[in-house]
Amino acid sequence: MALAPLQLGKHSVWPPVVLAPMAGVTNAPFRSLCRKFGPDLIYVNEMLMATGLVNGSRKTDTMLKFGPDETFRSLQLYGSDPEMLSRAIHKLGTAEAVDHIDLNFGCPAAKVTRRGGGAAVPLKRNLLRALVSAAVEAGNNYGIPVTCKFRMGISDDLLTYIETGIICEQSGAVAIALHARTAQQHYAPSAHWEAIAELKRAVKSIPVLGNGDIWEAADAVKMVEQTNCDGVVIGRGCLGRPWLFRDLIDAFSGRPISPSPLLGEVLPIMIEHATALCDHFDGDRGIRDFRKHTGWYLTGYPVGGEVRRKFSEVSSLDQLRMLADSLDPSIAIVPGGERIARGHTNGPIKVVLPEGYVADRDDMSIPDDADVLQLSGG
Ligand SMILES: Cc1cc2nc3c(=O)[nH]c(=O)nc-3n(C[C@H](O)[C@H](O)[C@H](O)COP(=O)(O)O)c2cc1C
Repeated sequence: MALAPLQLGKHSVWPPVVLAPMAGVTNAPFRSLCRKFGPDLIYVNEMLMATGLVNGSRKTDTMLKFGPDETFRSLQLYGSDPEMLSRAIHKLGTAEAVDHIDLNFGCPAAKVTRRGGGAAVPLKRNLLRALVSAAVEAGNNYGIPVTCKFRMGISDDLLTYIETGIICEQSGAVAIALHARTAQQHYAPSAHWEAIAELKRAVKSIPVLGNGDIWEAADAVKMVEQTNCDGVVIGRGCLGRPWLFRDLIDAFSGRPISPSPLLGEVLPIMIEHATALCDHFDGDRGIRDFRKHTGWYLTGYPVGGEVRRKFSEVSSLDQLRMLADSLDPSIAIVPGGERIARGHTNGPIKVVLPEGYVADRDDMSIPDDADVLQLSGG
């Protein structure tokens, strides 16, 4: 398969594989673990709110941490006000804090869509254009390339992805990524890969990346074959399976894929991840944060509900090590265990828009969501 490297500004990556931004997951410890398996891919940090960044906070500082060996630092920004987005990027650029910015136009959370933000923004094409242009213009001052990530639209009868892709292209984004679901679909049912193919046919001058339901490396190869997309974005498939990035490099290089690890190989990776989270966060936040990862690491391994529960309540690294030592290391994943959905799995949802929002798609009103401090999804 002749896949070109993904070019983001001066940075070139092959194979064109990107870790999707995932709030509460893709922090420095998780990215570091993934990079061990796939050193030179693109690993996007958690999403930061442009307003939070401009105003500054301790939490923002923690979220902005990159590992010392992270040579290409990617960050996703959320913002619905072009001025605020621009100020955030100037701040990041002045501090030489990042090398790449991704803009999120796919967040389906009701708290932002009901004000016209997140996944609702692409409905307002002039606002979208202003946001991408403002980000690109600010980024150009510092050599920071801008990419955009969005969904297919609000619902099957409000599809905007082709128009959105073209606007991003015309406004100077260097690549776009389509999460091939509508906001209404949320995370279920399956992603519509045919929409990625259609977007690829419509957007000719910048790379189109496909996102949605890549659980195993073979899925990524299939997505590229079926859609002709220029690269892939990996979300939930790597939750509890950071070695997926090694598998992806092998698959795109035409090498055989390693079998899934036995539990005895997974457990040290869990401990390494938890230890890094404990170093990253103050107090006991690291181990508490790790609890959600335990379920993902154990997905597909027949260890029983009681063991799973104990892991999900773990309160120290010592306890984690003891639990790990108590398990049979020869336990293998059940057939198909790699494909068991993890992370967000629900959908469809009701997407709330402001009253009369679709009546004027050229309106430039700026959504009033600057007070939203935390979001997850896209
Ligand atoms: C826990 C979690 C948090 C997420 N947070 C974000 C986010 O902050 N920004 C974003 O653009 N997408 C976010 N997403 C969506 C993913 O980036 C990705 O688009 C989605 O999971 C579909 O890809 P997948 O089927 O490979 O998981 C999140 C997904 C999950 C599971």
